[in-house]
Amino acid sequence: MVEELLTNELERLRQELAEHERRAVDRERQLERFAADLRDTFRREREQAQAVRDSWVATVRVLINAVEARDAYTGRHAERVAAYGLELAAGVDPTMTDDPQIEFGFLLHDVGKVGISDSILHKPGPLTRSEWNLMRRHTVLGSEIISEIHFLARANEVVRSHHERWDGRGYPDGLVGEEIPLPARIFAVADTLDAITTERPYRPSSSVPAALDEIALESGAQFDPQVVAALEEIPLETLELIRGGTAAEAA
Ligand SMILES: [Fe+2]
Repeated sequence: MVEELLTNELERLRQELAEHERRAVDRERQLERFAADLRDTFRREREQAQAVRDSWVATVRVLINAVEARDAYTGRHAERVAAYGLELAAGVDPTMTDDPQIEFGFLLHDVGKVGISDSILHKPGPLTRSEWNLMRRHTVLGSEIISEIHFLARANEVVRSHHERWDGRGYPDGLVGEEIPLPARIFAVADTLDAITTERPYRPSSSVPAALDEIALESGAQFDPQVVAALEEIPLETLELIRGGTAAEAA
């Protein structure tokens, strides 16, 4: 009698244990399916984000090509300036280099030149005062052109303010010191470095060290001193590589 009771109880416990195990296996399978669904969702989201980024870059490329087609003699100016600018940004505030808009702003800085007539843009002699005033409008024009593109809002800081000066004597808004967006202050130094070290129809190119000396003289006048200090920290070979590398490709 006792033995039968014990056997029954044991059987009941065995069945209970089997039921627990079955449920545990079910739950584990459910969790695995859930994890697989999550992985799929993440993968799809990553793909969508990449597609959005690709279309940003394609849009920016179209705009840059439109500018460079108008202003051919500067060659790969936008690419070199962007490379100098990113080196400077890494020295001034490394978090800036995580934002693709900073590079887009460097690349697109002169997008407004698409709205400046050829007779002014390619005039061989010096510009008259009124022509110069029209030329200066490329900053505001560029800013208006890309203002509708929300993902270029930060890039627009460079487009609008890349000809501002630290001492307030720049254009279009006459901003002073830190009123000028930092990416635009960085760009101003990169742009001047490229201008001095590139041959133009009206003057030969200077060496990188000569350009550094010239820029240092304008620290606190045309340029933000912290950006000039960051420039002096960049190894000379890096600057030479940017200058020579892209110049060789353009040749
Ligand atoms: Fe410009």
